[in-house]
Amino acid sequence: MVNILITGGTGYIGSHTAVLLCEAGYNVHIADNFANSDPGVLNRIEQIIGKSIHFSEVDLTSSEDLDLVFKNNTFDAVIHFAGLKSVGESIKEPLKYYNNNISSTMNLLNSMHKHNVDKLVFSSSATVYGECKIVPLEETFPIGQTTNPYATSKFMQELILRDVAFASNLNVVTLRYFNPIGAHTSGLIGENPKGIPNNLCPYITQVLSGKLEMLSVFGDDYETDDGSAIRDYIHVVDLANGHLKAIEKLLQTNSSTSYNAINLGRGIGVSVLEMIKTFENATGRKVPYRVTSRRQGDLPVSYAATDKALNELDFKAERSIEQACRDSWNYQEEFNKTSASKE
Ligand code: NAD
Ligand code: UFG
Repeated sequence: MVNILITGGTGYIGSHTAVLLCEAGYNVHIADNFANSDPGVLNRIEQIIGKSIHFSEVDLTSSEDLDLVFKNNTFDAVIHFAGLKSVGESIKEPLKYYNNNISSTMNLLNSMHKHNVDKLVFSSSATVYGECKIVPLEETFPIGQTTNPYATSKFMQELILRDVAFASNLNVVTLRYFNPIGAHTSGLIGENPKGIPNNLCPYITQVLSGKLEMLSVFGDDYETDDGSAIRDYIHVVDLANGHLKAIEKLLQTNSSTSYNAINLGRGIGVSVLEMIKTFENATGRKVPYRVTSRRQGDLPVSYAATDKALNELDFKAERSIEQACRDSWNYQEEFNKTSASKE
């Protein structure tokens, strides 16, 4: 049995990855402090996989607490999702972001080194490409022209991981995600942000369910066909599958040290207005919206070059954005039912 530690495994992407890894026969251990997730997710993961899952409630910024998890368990590899991810909050509270995201990664690397765990998959982000104006974004493009502390923290973590990988026997695959959307088809797990959503898709599903009144489209004066900004939306289950492929590659590697950054996207740009239409077609409901001014720090167009993921991980996203919209809506409806039955 191969043992995988998933930090941040009760979060949005981590929970879907935990499910896929368990279904593929891996022995998964989740570590999370519920900073942005709900303990109920553990039960829901167990419902999907039909067995119990190992879990440690731990804050990765505590080196002692994290090291105990390594002392008490054996791991062959780690997938490191744990981190704070709100761009807006990071601008207001940069220290919180640098503290949490950088210390967690430093503590994790120290414990991995101490306990001879030498394989790591790291959650990075397309935001590390910053203001690059050339698309599709290729892994060889320079990174670091970041526009907010969250993105800078990802860039800094990438630098730290690369240096440590070259200086020790660590093997790292850094995955740069584009825009994850959708949910597990069961409707049991999905994206459930605390407070008012910052991201487009959870905002739309909350408008559709009547929780929020109206979507603001941030700008229709970009140099794109319909004037709204373009992103590369990828179904979260496809994204989770990318992690499975990355873990499989790491487990097969004979190299004593390596660092490899790979994009995970569909390689297809979709505008905000196209996303609204897709949600409307997928759900048969209207999305009320108004156009407002651009959001500060937003890029006009961002989508991935996907050749490296295909060539090196044999990864290709399979699910359409229509399916992602259906699955997001299904999750939102299941979530509303459960919340209503608790009231
Ligand atoms: P999420 O907030 O749903 O999940 C992150 C999890 O990490 C949460 O469960 C949270 O409680 C946990 N966590 C945070 N700090 C912790 C700490 N100090 N100790 C223990 N647990 C901690 O976010 P997500 O969307 O699942 O993202 C997962 C990772 O992917 C993050 O690192 C994020 O930056 C990165 N990422 C996300 C996106 C996106 O759009 N969702 C895009 C690119 C990269
Ligand atoms: N948008 C709106 N209205 C909203 C929310 C978003 O018009 O209420 C627009 C944005 O302006 C943008 C697009 O929808 O053009 C997507 O915005 P998101 O906030 O959903 O996503 P971002 O591309 O800004 O950023 C996301 C994550 C980052 C991650 C990045 C790249 O929030 O953490 O994708 O992976 F790093």
